[in-house]
Amino acid sequence: MALETGAEFTKSVLKRWEDIPDPRLREVMQSAIKHLHAFVSDVKPTGAEWFKAIQFLTAIGHKCDDKRQEFILASDVMGVSMLVDDINNRRVAGATPSTVEGPFHIPNAPEVADGGDMAKGAPGIPCFVTGKVRGLSGEPVGGAVLDLWQTDGEGLYEEQRRTAEPWMRGVYRTRPDGSYTIRTVAPISYTIPMDGPIGEFFSRTTMSHMRPAHIHFAISAPGYHEVITHLFQKGDEYIDNDVVYGVKAPLVVEFVKRPPGKAPNGEMVDTPFYEVKYDFVLEQKQAALAAAE
Ligand code: BEZ
Ligand code: FE
Repeated sequence: MALETGAEFTKSVLKRWEDIPDPRLREVMQSAIKHLHAFVSDVKPTGAEWFKAIQFLTAIGHKCDDKRQEFILASDVMGVSMLVDDINNRRVAGATPSTVEGPFHIPNAPEVADGGDMAKGAPGIPCFVTGKVRGLSGEPVGGAVLDLWQTDGEGLYEEQRRTAEPWMRGVYRTRPDGSYTIRTVAPISYTIPMDGPIGEFFSRTTMSHMRPAHIHFAISAPGYHEVITHLFQKGDEYIDNDVVYGVKAPLVVEFVKRPPGKAPNGEMVDTPFYEVKYDFVLEQKQAALAAAE
């Protein structure tokens, strides 16, 4: 058995991993080994440093449960989630762009009637979001599902509130003309969770750990590509250095402050409120196929 070191050693490891019958798994693992060996050769960690890296990954795993996902957070803050999104969700010009899903989406949000309130007494300034879901040719998409989640007006998600009932999330459906009306409270900019290994890591840097205020949307309709995206509040101080690199110009919208009075859902609001108008544009699945030809 030859004594192999450096590049020769990497080659012999790769050779053994050639014996994976599944070609995709083989491709992924060989690439992972190649890049991991290159990374380790570059950084030259001491044994203690490598063990620290293993402890860091272990701590990330220990922080995860059915509501907290520290691995997604790790992927987000290194820009990897946005890279995966870019590879998989590049839509044609004119379609609403996607952005990072983040770790706070909880499936099966309660259905809320058009114009209904998904904040249900949560703290914050009332906020009404209205608009249409359309196709690329301008056709209305009736019956589209809008699955929303966001922080309350104190910057906290359900996972952080740990409420027994759903908090700051809801599922709306568009009317036949594609229109929708949402009543919620305005989100605020917030810090990513700092009480875990990723937060601990950030406290050793001078990088911002803030996200600009935003509302998450997952919008789906039969025959169209689903879009997972956000609406960001224009003018937010963190809009240019979002910690997870999620801001895209077409998703930045004005939150217009209105005086007390009649709101877009017809109700009388006795405090100032925000109004946000936005049309989402979905790409038809056939259009995607044609564009790829
Ligand atoms: C979020 O927007 O919910 C989020 C995304 C990535 C990391 C942390 C939070
Ligand atoms: Fe968020």
